[in-house]
Amino acid sequence: MAVNKRIVVLISGNGSNLQAIIDACNSQKIPAKVVGVLSNKADVFGLTRAANSNIASSVLSHKDFTSREDYDCELIKEIDKFSPDLVILAGFMRFLTADFVQHFKGRLLNIHPSLLPKYQGLNTHQRAIDAGDSEHGVSVHFVTEELDGGPVILQAKVPVFIEDSADDLAARVHEQEHRIYPLVVKWFCEDRLTMVDEYAMLDKMQLSEHGYAND
Ligand code: GAR
Repeated sequence: MAVNKRIVVLISGNGSNLQAIIDACNSQKIPAKVVGVLSNKADVFGLTRAANSNIASSVLSHKDFTSREDYDCELIKEIDKFSPDLVILAGFMRFLTADFVQHFKGRLLNIHPSLLPKYQGLNTHQRAIDAGDSEHGVSVHFVTEELDGGPVILQAKVPVFIEDSADDLAARVHEQEHRIYPLVVKWFCEDRLTMVDEYAMLDKMQLSEHGYAND
């Protein structure tokens, strides 16, 4: 299979989703290459993962900028140096400006640890436990100007058990993250997945509010 797509991954931490995508590219499950990794934080393990795979990386600290607009403007420049076909947010914990989102619209994906539209924002696992939910999960979606609000492509559900701590639940969700993110990236890199008029389309079919294969 031709490896023709170029991927840039944005991280702020551990980078386990980055690793899942690198591994899927290396084993040719995804016809693409991770060409660059950018982090807003230094000393995070995701940068070590990039180095271990000989992937170029750089740190752009938000602390060096006085405004969100200036930061995102510089971030666009750094990303564009890699000429990416796809930009992946993998635990990149920043609000993005409308200009940033517009610039990469239709080629910007995010993973969020909840069954969107439930629990946008932070502390999703604890919020699911506090609400007494019997199921929880993760969503991969296209990014639009609305925080955690872009069209969902794929979700995975996990059960919530009565004795679960937020860490237990996060670990269960993480396992599913590492399955569904590479799959969605594969669809995109095979030119099967697009965003049209704020809808996610897979094989020219419009996906529903909860993405593909949701019952
Ligand atoms: C993942 O659980 C991801 O869903 C979450 O950050 C974690 C990053 O883990 N993203 C968000 O909360 C975005 N709103 P990782 O660094 O090990 O991939």
